[in-house]
Amino acid sequence: MELTVKQQAMLAGNHGAAKQMAMRLLVDLGTAADAPQMVPVAAAHVSGVSPLTGGHGLTTFLEKLGDDAQVEVETTLNSAGCDSRCWREMGATTDYVERQQRILDAYAALGVRLTLSCTPYEAVQTSLPDGVGAWAESNAVCYANSYTELRTNRDSGLSALAAAICGCTPDYGLLRDENRTANLLVEVECDLVESVDFSVLGDWVGKQLPTGLALPWGPVPHFRGVGEANHEARKALSAAAANYGCALLYLDEPPAAEYQATLCFTTADLEARYAELAPRHAVDLVVIGCPQASPAEVRATAELVRNRSLPEGRLWVFTASRHWDSLHEEVAAIEAAGGMVLRDTCPEVVHYDRASVNHILTNSLKAEHYLQSGLNSMPTSVARLADCIAHAADPEMADGVAHKGRRPSAVAHHSTKVPQAGALSLAGSGLESQDTWMVEGEALVTDVPLTFLGFVNRRTGVVEEPGHPLNGESIAGKVLVFPRGSGSSVAPYVLLGLLYRNHGPLAIVNTEIDQQTLPACSLLGVPYAHSFGRDPCLELNSGDQVKLELRDSIVTLELLERAPVSS
Ligand code: F3S
Repeated sequence: MELTVKQQAMLAGNHGAAKQMAMRLLVDLGTAADAPQMVPVAAAHVSGVSPLTGGHGLTTFLEKLGDDAQVEVETTLNSAGCDSRCWREMGATTDYVERQQRILDAYAALGVRLTLSCTPYEAVQTSLPDGVGAWAESNAVCYANSYTELRTNRDSGLSALAAAICGCTPDYGLLRDENRTANLLVEVECDLVESVDFSVLGDWVGKQLPTGLALPWGPVPHFRGVGEANHEARKALSAAAANYGCALLYLDEPPAAEYQATLCFTTADLEARYAELAPRHAVDLVVIGCPQASPAEVRATAELVRNRSLPEGRLWVFTASRHWDSLHEEVAAIEAAGGMVLRDTCPEVVHYDRASVNHILTNSLKAEHYLQSGLNSMPTSVARLADCIAHAADPEMADGVAHKGRRPSAVAHHSTKVPQAGALSLAGSGLESQDTWMVEGEALVTDVPLTFLGFVNRRTGVVEEPGHPLNGESIAGKVLVFPRGSGSSVAPYVLLGLLYRNHGPLAIVNTEIDQQTLPACSLLGVPYAHSFGRDPCLELNSGDQVKLELRDSIVTLELLERAPVSS
């Protein structure tokens, strides 16, 4: 990878330790992805803000960043873990608020603007820079790539910050024309009316994704037949699809397409999902605004509650400060009705008082995905906006039985993996910053993408995702073999937290480079390998004993002993 004189100086440490660490991470990422050079970044958006999502990994990382760390480009920040205006009403503790403030202070010291919003694309749309961004926050990445002139890879919070500190990012993946190709055709054969219908569609596609497809930059679906989609519908579709690693989608005919699979979404599929997701038990709280609500979404909610009186504490609406500040009348209408309009925060990263909230209703499949995950373990149902408000108004609308436990996953992940026998020896690539290493250990293998945030227990390393082939297995001390990460861009901080606590994997092997996993391995020197001639996810079984060795820039993977195959 060709570096400018300045970039070489950063890598050599001549611009301080923080820039050296950041440049090393970017060079690892770029070299692994065959980027020919770095390109300047016009804007960065950093995720990993809440103590709940970033956790120990984030706070330890920020503390270790030296005083010399500063961002070089306009850098905005994702939603925080509470609204500083009304955290007491939300049930947040003083300790939680103090931890949040320490994180915000650390970002401010880096020069990051504390916008605390996951919808940077709504910040005066006309001023969104064209060109290259380094954006984390999966919904924002997918929105920017799909509907604006800004191009960004699916950066993790960590790599977006590294790019902001260095002012550049490797030229690879979705920054390049040749990779912005649709690889999945979705025939939409039903009428989608409101934004939550689009959210259901995005989630449905993610759940249906066949394994074994070559998707180095994630699924890039072309949704054919959706008709008109307004801003809110587009936003809902990208946010839900992004839960499954989608960083670019097409509603119009794509410039190029090499479809590897075709899916067909019908009215029956839509109605079946609504039936599965409908509240069957008493709803304790309705949350609207994931991603944070646009002005039109706040207005629509205000219209539904205007001149009504909801029982106290049953409706929370999440929006960005810049919208909150300009929507006095709508905010007043919602709050007069008994709801709260929260700013700077998000339904997944706030604290819920479990003495009173044990079943949430929302109109967002992104909220459902993460509220149900181990992040919150909150039973969550989904309905259209008017139905959500009806439940907020009438606690007796569903029967009065308290909801217990997590809703079982309606759709199991597709896996084409079959047990393997016989000898195996593969050669692949490692990281530029790693010279030599050798590890021997037990492989933990899946061909289904893994989401760290919410689906890997950040204290124990146990996968907690019903329907996933690794559900219940611990990644701690294993040679973890999986195709790529999916979902949240906060993943590296979960991995960092596990590694800081010595509950991380021994080594990580990905089919393709994983933009969410690689940065944590680069930062902490964890053995990382990728791009083998044959897919290790299919060639290895969980329980196999393997030896991985990096020498002369090549990683060799040797099978030492096959695990007994259960009959
Ligand atoms: Fe926004 Fe992501 Fe939360 S989309 S509302 S920060 S889960």
